[in-house]
Amino acid sequence: MDNFSIAIDGPASAGKSTIAKKVAGNLGFIYLDTGAMYRSLTYIAIKESLSLDNEDELVELLDSIEITFSYEGDRQKVFVNGEDVTELIREKDVTQHVSLVSAHTKVREEMVARQQKIAATGEIVMDGRDIGTVVLPKADLKIFLVASAEERALRRYKESVAKGMDVSLEQLTKELKERDYYDSNRIASPLKKADDAIELDSTHLSIDEVVEIVLKLAVERKKKE
Ligand code: DC
Repeated sequence: MDNFSIAIDGPASAGKSTIAKKVAGNLGFIYLDTGAMYRSLTYIAIKESLSLDNEDELVELLDSIEITFSYEGDRQKVFVNGEDVTELIREKDVTQHVSLVSAHTKVREEMVARQQKIAATGEIVMDGRDIGTVVLPKADLKIFLVASAEERALRRYKESVAKGMDVSLEQLTKELKERDYYDSNRIASPLKKADDAIELDSTHLSIDEVVEIVLKLAVERKKKE
């Protein structure tokens, strides 16, 4: 039988990675943050001054890099060819350009292949934009996590302020809506709810409340197996 898998998709800053990490920790599953993989490629491409429109060059670059993860409790670290890029891939320049890089079909094909290979190694919770639709179409549980753009921008604003960053809520809201638009309207596997995904709106729910709902659903599905 295939490994039990949970797909969590949704727009930026809906809380996917926080929730996926907690669900995985609770169930003893692997957690894979697929957004971090696209961010890693974007970071290296910017560092090497590649044109982000050049699909072939990006694929060639991707072929030369290994993206790996390490976990210490709740803390995830991301490495590219052994270099710790955990913080670097969250920087503004990467966030603003990652939608461009992730829109290329051939980049996505390679990323999806890598993600499927990781999923084959054990029980997994994966978060992203195309997990339930493309990466794990047979996932045992698919969640489509949403929240209003205003709430998502506010969450991101509070996180940034807590880190001592100088940001404007208005600007963050604008950038978030732009990224939503881009991720949902690209040709190659756009952000879309899978037909068999359960939509959860976290606008008025705490992280723990969402985690509890997902865990309950996972336990129910597991029982049915
Ligand atoms: O989840 P995130 O914000 O770290 O994702 C960064 C970008 O990567 C996001 O704008 C869209 C893209 N992405 C994607 O296209 N497919 C995925 N499975 C994960 C992320």
